[in-house]
Amino acid sequence: MKALVLAGGSGTRLRPITHTSAKQLVPVANKPVLFYGLEAIAETGIQEVGLVVGDTQPEIEAAVGDGSAFGLQVTYLRQSAPLGLAHGVLIARDFLGDEDFVMYLGDNFIVGGIGALVDRFAARRPAAQILLTRVGDPTQFGVAELDGLGRVVGLEEKPARPKSDLALVGVYLFTPAVHAAVAELKPSWRGELEITDAIQWLIEAGMAVDSSVITGYWKDTGNVTDMLEVNRLVLEALEPRAEGLVDEASELVGRVVVEAGAVVERSRLVGPVIVGPGTRVADSYIGPFTSVGADCLVSGSELEYSIVMPGASLTGVGRIESSLIGHHVEVTASLNTPKAHRLVLGDHSKVRIGT
Ligand code: TTP
Repeated sequence: MKALVLAGGSGTRLRPITHTSAKQLVPVANKPVLFYGLEAIAETGIQEVGLVVGDTQPEIEAAVGDGSAFGLQVTYLRQSAPLGLAHGVLIARDFLGDEDFVMYLGDNFIVGGIGALVDRFAARRPAAQILLTRVGDPTQFGVAELDGLGRVVGLEEKPARPKSDLALVGVYLFTPAVHAAVAELKPSWRGELEITDAIQWLIEAGMAVDSSVITGYWKDTGNVTDMLEVNRLVLEALEPRAEGLVDEASELVGRVVVEAGAVVERSRLVGPVIVGPGTRVADSYIGPFTSVGADCLVSGSELEYSIVMPGASLTGVGRIESSLIGHHVEVTASLNTPKAHRLVLGDHSKVRIGT
């Protein structure tokens, strides 16, 4: 069995971060979200992974390499444009050959691994097996309709009138039967080859499509709110560890990790919090559910429920909450009068100013 991991896409919901970086590399507790997926795949015993990438290939390749750090052999499959999840399967045709495979969306986060799913699929081998979760607003998702026995009888992408509240989670298992379906697909109204259409094709061809409803935690980290929420969840399991330099005037409360090479001075850190290597925290408060990446500066500031990516600096800026701050961002106090906000923001940046 092989794995196909989708790590291309346009990432419009995470702009402006995705103007310059891959959304699959946004750190959760200072580790790229994609790495959690690769680890879950490695745990199943699968070794051969096709990684579908787009414009951000160099960055993803620099982070994942040949996959050996995960015990995997990674083959990069370049997608000319984000033409849909099923397009990812189409371009992986040669790589996948005639093997069964698990398709995993590189920005999805699942607690508890995928071992049980893979085992169940291997034992029953339906043409496709999908994973479902109950959601409040099914109109935003691919939605499944089941019969009384839990078999999938229909699928719809972002339906105006959903037939159930069961949304598709980003892990799918397929036999090679899916390739005939994918080869027949036409682009949907949004111009993409939809994996839901491929699965619908299998159903209409009379093939078995199996489903299970996820019991554990799952999130698509495609937007800032969900990314911060996943970060919170992972930080909750943090084992406290202070390997950096923490001065006498500082206080670490609860689950706090200060990585080797970090410096904390005259500050109060209330966990769960992680501070990356090379980062300096001075005269500041860092509150629960915050990850500060490597080589950052947090000085004279308060920070809570946020992700700060490597190289960023926050100096004298009061309190920042529920924020996703990109690589090498600088936020500083403006000391001159008139008292005004001075901004240099990239395209599609989102700023909320407390008044
Ligand atoms: P999505 O989050 O559904 O799509 P997107 O990345 O285009 O994001 P947005 O809706 O914010 O514009 O994609 C799920 C995963 O699949 C994600 O890791 C990106 C990846 N993907 C591809 O690799 N190729 C594609 O053609 C598409 C659409 C997504």
